[in-house]
Parts: sequence; structure tokens; C-alpha cells
Amino acid sequence: MPSLPPPSHVWHPFTQMRAFEAEGAPVIESADGVWLTDTAGRRYIDGVSSLWCNVHGHRHPGIDAAVRAQLERVSHSTMLGLSHPGAEELARRLVALAPPGLSRVFYSDSGSTAVEIALKMAFQYWQQAADARPARTGFVYLEHSYHGDTVGSVSVGGIDLFHSLYRPLLFDAHRVPAGDAGALEHVLAAHGDEIAAVVVEPLVQGAAGMLLQPPGYLREVRAACDRHDVFLICDEVATGFGRTGTMFACEQEAVAPDFLCLAKGLTGGYLPLAATLATERVHAAFLGEHEELRTFFHGHTYTGNPLACAAALASLNAFEEERTLERLAPKAALLEQLLGDLVEPLPHVAEVRRCGLMCGIELARAGGGPFDPALRTGHGVTLAARARGAIVRPLGDVVVLMPPLSIEADVLEELVEITADAIAEATGAGTLAVAA
Ligand SMILES: Cc1ncc(COP(=O)(O)O)c(C=O)c1O
Repeated sequence: MPSLPPPSHVWHPFTQMRAFEAEGAPVIESADGVWLTDTAGRRYIDGVSSLWCNVHGHRHPGIDAAVRAQLERVSHSTMLGLSHPGAEELARRLVALAPPGLSRVFYSDSGSTAVEIALKMAFQYWQQAADARPARTGFVYLEHSYHGDTVGSVSVGGIDLFHSLYRPLLFDAHRVPAGDAGALEHVLAAHGDEIAAVVVEPLVQGAAGMLLQPPGYLREVRAACDRHDVFLICDEVATGFGRTGTMFACEQEAVAPDFLCLAKGLTGGYLPLAATLATERVHAAFLGEHEELRTFFHGHTYTGNPLACAAALASLNAFEEERTLERLAPKAALLEQLLGDLVEPLPHVAEVRRCGLMCGIELARAGGGPFDPALRTGHGVTLAARARGAIVRPLGDVVVLMPPLSIEADVLEELVEITADAIAEATGAGTLAVAA
């Protein structure tokens, strides 16, 4: 196993450092397309799109050139009191692509901040809009939801493993079971007057382990929000930019939210950039004289960074020039077939969940029931896959596959084969089941 260059001073995210330092990990030095190369010269398929953000592959010529060209102009200039052409053009293009009614783009730099901003905007709207309802300070979120790691986004987070420790730091919000529109209606009927917004990950709850929502659910959520005049925040940080087969997951249910949160794939996975899209109704409530203090008092230093905007524009160009979305359907179909042939028959695979190129493989003991978490079975799959030349990262004992949309059929096949072999090895199922 490759080792970290000693001594390492780096503290890694979501990582138990004791085990990490004992085990070592590849140190990625370069990349090309869907392949990552470490300092020892080993190559790996980027099976999780460098944490769900790479879209068109690494070192994409068009995005590389756009970032280089922007370097020749300006690398950073503030959006506080100034603007720049890339931010203007990107906002125009995002508004054109987004569901109808989302006409204002507020930039930030991560998925967490995109959600944090939507929460604060929704809250502030009800404090100061012409139709102000100051009692509307609460939020509704789904069980098992994940919206980021900042304190506001954790307050609407439903993954107890990550979130419950921080409960004393968080604001209260109503948690409802995912996929159950009746339960949401119930909460809104009882508490609607105190609710500012409902926040959901549309179609797929990614960090929960790729949990799929029943068809029609998002439409019912939108209808319930409308009935109670509550805002709908759709967090498409993970699902946006083609992951579910359409540019945005909302499109599949013909839903237009009041706020749309974007990050990860926005720059094709190149640079940190996020956007919170809002409606004209929302924006209008923030207009007024300075002394009225209707301003949205929020903004990060690197908000709307010009290099990141250049990468985002080039990524949107790549979607058009390479017909990325049109070419996705056959890849998703191939993935479905490969999972059915190679992964589902494995004795320790309890369920395979897939939407577009987002996929979660849930592992379980042969007789059913979860593995003892101390066994770290999902992590074992990661190590076994790594030894075979693919980077996958599990969520507990759910193995995630989420390759760049640009992955070619033969590499997709290799990725699923490696994953199946790695699952067989890590669960002690041997390789016979895979060969069958
Ligand atoms: C749905 C969703 N929202 C928000 C986030 C947080 O994004 P970031 O890690 O860029 O802060 C994530 C990250 O995985 C996510 O999946």
C-alpha cells in the first residue's frame, strides 16, 4: 500500500486519522480523463469523480484553456461592490438552464455555503418582505438528508452519525421521513405558519447512501409547499449537472423550486464555486434604501472567483459541444446492466440503487442485516478496489460509484468489474461468485 510522505501535517476531512496514518493512502500527483495517477506511478479509475464533482474528466482541454486564458486576465477580484464578465455570463447561462422562475444568482464557494445562503435568504425574506410573516423562522428537512457541514446546513441534516453530536450548536428544525409526502403535509398543516422553507435533495439522497425517492414525490413536495406558502429549497449540489441523467434532477418531475443550490459539478469539478439561484419574488424583498437594512448581509471572500467562473463556463460549453447529456443514457443503461450481471448476484449485496450515473451498492451479511460497523466492510472494499486500480469511497457499508459523465463504456465496464471483485474479496465471498 502506498504511504504518505513522512511527516504529514495534514488532517483529512471525514477521516479517522489514526487508521489513516497507519494504513497510508495514494498521493495523487496528476490525472488525465477519468484516470488518476499517484506519486508511485500507479493509475486508478476515478470511480467517484473526485468526490462527485468531476464531470468531463480531468485535464479537459477546453476547461484547461479557459482557466489559463483567465489567468492572463485576472485570477481574483471581489464580487463585493464589483463584478466581472465571467460572473455575469455564467449567471445568464445558469438562469437559462435552470427551472423557470429562478432569475437571480448568488455565488459562493461550496455546497454547504450554497445551502446556508438559501436558508438565510428564506428566513430573511419572511422577516422583511411585503407579505412578511416574521413567525416563519423554521425549516423542514428529510430524514437522512445531507446538506453540508456548516452549522446552518448541519441544522437541516438528517444523518445522525455526522450530525447528532453537534445538536447543541444547531437551530431546531422539523425532520420528516423521506419519500412520504403525507408526513410532510401533516407537519406543514400543523406548523406551516412557522415554517420558512422545506429543504430537499431532489430524487436522490446522496450522502445517505444513494437513497432514491419514489416517482412523483418531489412534485408532491412542491404542491404541499404551495398549499402552505412555504418556500422549496432544492439542493442539487450532488444531483446537478447531469448526474441523474438530466441537467438538473428537478426537471424529471417538472418542478421549479424557489431556491436551487448548485456546487460540485458547476465548474466541471475544477475549482470551488457554488451558486444559490432564487426567484424574482425573493430578490425583490431584499430591495430598499440602505438604512432599511434589507440587504442580504452575507458574502465570502472568494465568492464568484473569476477562475472558477471561467471553468464553469467552459464546462457548460463542453456539455453542449460534446452532447454530454445525450450520450449519457446509453452509459446509464450499460451501468444498470453491468450492476445486474456482476454486482447484484454477489451474496453480500443487499441492494443496488441507481439514478443516472449515481449508484449505491448496499452491503449486508449473507443472511441479511448490516455488518458490524467495526469491521469497516465498505472501507475494505475501497482498499481492495484501490489495489485493483480504482478509487471508490463508501458511505458506511454502501459502496458508491459515481464516475465522471465522460467515462467511456470500456472503462465503465472495468470499474464495475473491479468493484465486484473488491466486494467479493472484502466480504469474503471469494471470486467464484463473480466469475459465475
Ligand atoms: C446534497 C449535498 N449538499 C451539500 C453538500 C455539501 O457540499 P460541500 O462539500 O461542497 O460543502 C453535499 C456534499 O456532498 C451534498 O451531497
